[in-house]
This record gives sequence, structure tokens and C-alpha cells, in this order.
Amino acid sequence: MKVDAERLGHEIDELATISAARPPAVTRVVFTEEDLRARAWLKQRCADAGMAVRVDAVGNTFFRWEGSRPDLPAVATGSHIDAIPNAGRFDGVVGVLGGLEAIRSLREGGFQPERSIELIQFTAEEPTRFGVGCVGSRLLAGVLNADADEKLRGGDGETLRAVRTKAGFDGDLATVRLPYGYYAAFVESHIEQGPILEREGIPIGIVTNIVGPSSFFITIDGEGGHAGGVLMPDRHDALCAAAELIVRIEGTARQSGSTDTVATVGICEVHPGAINSIPSRVKLGVDLRDTDGKRRDRVLNEIRNATEEIAQQRQLQTSIQVLNADEPATSSPQVLAAIARSCLEEGLESRRIVARAYHDSSFMVHVAPMAMIFIPCRGGVSHRPDEHATMEHIVAGVKVLARTLAELSSAH
Ligand code: GLV
Ligand code: MN
Ligand code: MN
Repeated sequence: MKVDAERLGHEIDELATISAARPPAVTRVVFTEEDLRARAWLKQRCADAGMAVRVDAVGNTFFRWEGSRPDLPAVATGSHIDAIPNAGRFDGVVGVLGGLEAIRSLREGGFQPERSIELIQFTAEEPTRFGVGCVGSRLLAGVLNADADEKLRGGDGETLRAVRTKAGFDGDLATVRLPYGYYAAFVESHIEQGPILEREGIPIGIVTNIVGPSSFFITIDGEGGHAGGVLMPDRHDALCAAAELIVRIEGTARQSGSTDTVATVGICEVHPGAINSIPSRVKLGVDLRDTDGKRRDRVLNEIRNATEEIAQQRQLQTSIQVLNADEPATSSPQVLAAIARSCLEEGLESRRIVARAYHDSSFMVHVAPMAMIFIPCRGGVSHRPDEHATMEHIVAGVKVLARTLAELSSAH
């Protein structure tokens, strides 16, 4: 398999310049001016590669290489190009531009697919704008439905409908959904965002399953007051309750019985936030994930119980708002086998691996048999400007992806 590493490397660098942050950081939040410019840039690259384009109501974009059997379900690959604030240049991009390069390599090598091959650029994989991640693929899967148009709001309070319409994506959100079997298979390639492949010196990870993520807000309402005037026995300090709760959350994850359970309190908003005022209200943002959905839900319940217990002991009010609690996703044996064969044919060592970030594949599993291809990233680092993947690994991933797409595009 011959891949044009120079062209791909140049495109990754060029896309990274479409950013609201100064290099090397990349910030490209969905439906901002940068996201729209990046979309236009990608459309041009795909048009140059001779692909047809379809855009759905939420902006998921499908680039198609027509096969000789357009009557059959196509095979798809893809990922996202939105990026959280102060991110790197590889998260998602390796799957989109690597997918494009895989298709170009097959095409330029004279391959003629039977099933059509599509490259999908998903809308809003990152939760930055709407609080929940994978908005585009959730809608494709029917995990979110059309009422998301009014329910999902950006940080500025604007509805998804208002934001997408302004960005030029209109139409009925209900039309986004695709039935299971719409694609014959879906394969996403991505950087690992963890340290295992690099540590073991293995260039390709074959993702057997993706963790089930949940995110929720816990609001604690205590009683504010003067930091000098209110004596300790009279206090109902919301931040002290939050501090106790944060440690309990860490404990429930550590004691779940498996290292696959992880919990993170990544947001702690303190009101009123003055040094001489007792915190009256705290909002915690919690991210909880597990490979086992039942265990994740058990831990979620333990966190609810801990919240109530602390509320009672300290006599304050609490409420929990669950944003999402998604099922773990399992890869298709057929797609896993195709990836494994492609690694063998390329003479590349591989290992099976668990995806511990969520991905559009977490939801595409409801649309098609799916699996993912991971490549190493330096130090396992991601969601940081110094995120890095070598061209050698990126090219290895593209080769495996191209062979996998070729095999899966066969009509049999
Ligand atoms: C996706 O970026 C995640 O948080 O897993
Ligand atoms: Mn990400
Ligand atoms: Mn990603």
C-alpha cells in the first residue's frame, strides 16, 4: 500500500492553522468561524479527490467515492475536526485526513471498490459547545432525537437550532437519523490518547470495545455569609461539602473493584467566589467512565448516595443533573478480523486495546458493525497543544485503514 506521507503531513499542518488559538495550540469549537473555515477547506480537499458531498441537517458531512455496486450499503470511515480549547492537531484529524488519504491511496493505486466508500466528518464530537459530546453521531444513531434542537444549548444559552441555523445548517433534525445497516461497516482511526501502544512499541491498536461515559452536574446549595461574622458551628458551607464529596467520588471509583472505573471532577464553580464570603453554592461537573455499563451505573448510584449523605450531615440542598449515561460499545468481530488481516498484510505488529475516550464510533455502533484503529501518541498525551503522533505511525494507520476499507468494500 503506497501512501503520500508528504501530502498528508502537509494537510495536517495546514488544518492546524485554522484555529482560534496561537500555534501550536488548536482551538476549533463547532460552528465557530474556524470550524466553518475548516469544513470549507476539507470540502475542497475532498472535491479535489473527486468525491461527492452530502451534508445533513446538523452538519455531519459525507464524502462519497462511488463503487461499482451503489445499490449495496457503503462502507464508511471518519471522525471529527472540532477541537477543544487549547488542543493539539491530531485528535479526530488523524481519522478524517487519514481517511481521506486512505481513499486517495486506494484510488491512485487503481483499486475499484464494489461497495461505495464514504468519509464522514461528524459534527461536535467534543462537548465544548453543547455540554454533551458526539452530537452528530448521537443524532445519526437515534440516541439523541429531534427535540435536541431545543434542549441542547450552547454556553451562551442559544439553542442548537439557533446555532446551527446561523452556521448555515438547517432542515429537520429528525432526518439526520440512519437505520442500523445503513452502512455495511464503519471503521474510525484515531490516536490512542493513552500510553499503552507507545510504551509497548506497537504501532497499531485494534479497539475491541469503547468505555461507557457518563457526565453529570452536582449542585450544592448551602448558606452564604460573612467570612468573619458567621462562626463555624453555624455554617453550611457549600464548598466544604463539595470538597468532601470530591474525595468520596474519587473513593467510589477507586473501590469499584476494577481499574476500568474512572471518575473525574473537572469543574468546580464556586459562588459567589469572594475570599471573605462563605460559599453558598457550588456546581461540580463530573465525568465517570467504565468498560462495564452496570458497574458504571452502580458507581453512579454510590455517588448519588454519598451526595445525599453529605447533604444531610451538613444540612444543605443538593441536586444532580445527568447529561448522559451511555452504554459501552463493542466492536464487530468481522471488522476486527479485517483490521487484523490488514496489519498482517502490512507486516505491522498490533495488539487488542480498549478505547478509554469516547468516540463517534461509540454511537456509530448503532448504525453499522464498527471497530476502531488506534495509533500511538507521544507520552499518551492528548487534549493538549503538545499532542503528537509521528508521521510513521500515522502512515501505518492509513495503510491499515486503506486495506481494511478495501476488504470491507467487497460485495461478499
Ligand atoms: C472525548 O474527547 C472524550 O472526552 O473522551
Ligand atoms: Mn477529543
Ligand atoms: Mn477524538
